[in-house]
Amino acid sequence: MKKLQDELGPRDLAGLRVVVSAGGTREPIDAVRVVANRSSGKQGYAIAEEALARGAEVTIVSTVSLPPPHGAEIVGVETAAEMERAMRFAAASHDIVVMAAAVADFRPVAPTDGKLKKHDGVPEITLEPTPDILAGLGRSKREGQTLVGFAAETSDLRANAEAKLVAKQLDLIVANDVGAERVGFAHDTNAVTMLRPDAEPVEIDLAAKRDVARAVIDTIIDLRRSRA
Ligand code: CTP
Repeated sequence: MKKLQDELGPRDLAGLRVVVSAGGTREPIDAVRVVANRSSGKQGYAIAEEALARGAEVTIVSTVSLPPPHGAEIVGVETAAEMERAMRFAAASHDIVVMAAAVADFRPVAPTDGKLKKHDGVPEITLEPTPDILAGLGRSKREGQTLVGFAAETSDLRANAEAKLVAKQLDLIVANDVGAERVGFAHDTNAVTMLRPDAEPVEIDLAAKRDVARAVIDTIIDLRRSRA
């Protein structure tokens, strides 16, 4: 008879700590309005669930209120600045760092404390760049730490993702074509290309986000073993 553990699958992340960022950041315009994006957080949560199932200790730095996977520590954040602080802190104590969140690239320079009123006319909102959290994590990556990014593309997927892999000093980038049907934001399915510096690209055809998560974790295990 098969053992229960075999049925449940490998616990090949036992003893490791994994932090995953999930969801899209929201950058305030005034007391009630935000600059946001379409990220649902589902792919990040699926990665966290898969890592938990495989024995890891898991932290999720999240902008969304999806049901928390059993056993995960959730750190709630809203803006890119809050996410940066939480991810930097977590990166100091986690072996595997996955930036699945869609971070706003621009934020209003001077959000208003109160609510902007209609009778004051159409506001002019000046934007400034947010910090690139993942690039910062790449610069301060510790020996033995695995850093994984995502790439949301609508054109030249491989070339753009490859450039991010190199520029942000990543071990793996998971690229998805967010313009394609049933792929990326808000869907329960995804199709991705995984790129790493030391192996050929791997394509995952349209699949449930949990299946994509399994493939991402398999690749992380493989690349960690190849460097051990
Ligand atoms: N990212 C980040 N901080 C930012 C922007 C992006 O940490 N300010 C991370 C995302 O979480 C993702 C990776 O960088 O893991 C790539 O994000 P993406 O939006 O695809 O690309 P950008 O680097 O923002 O570049 P562009 O918008 O020009 O495609």
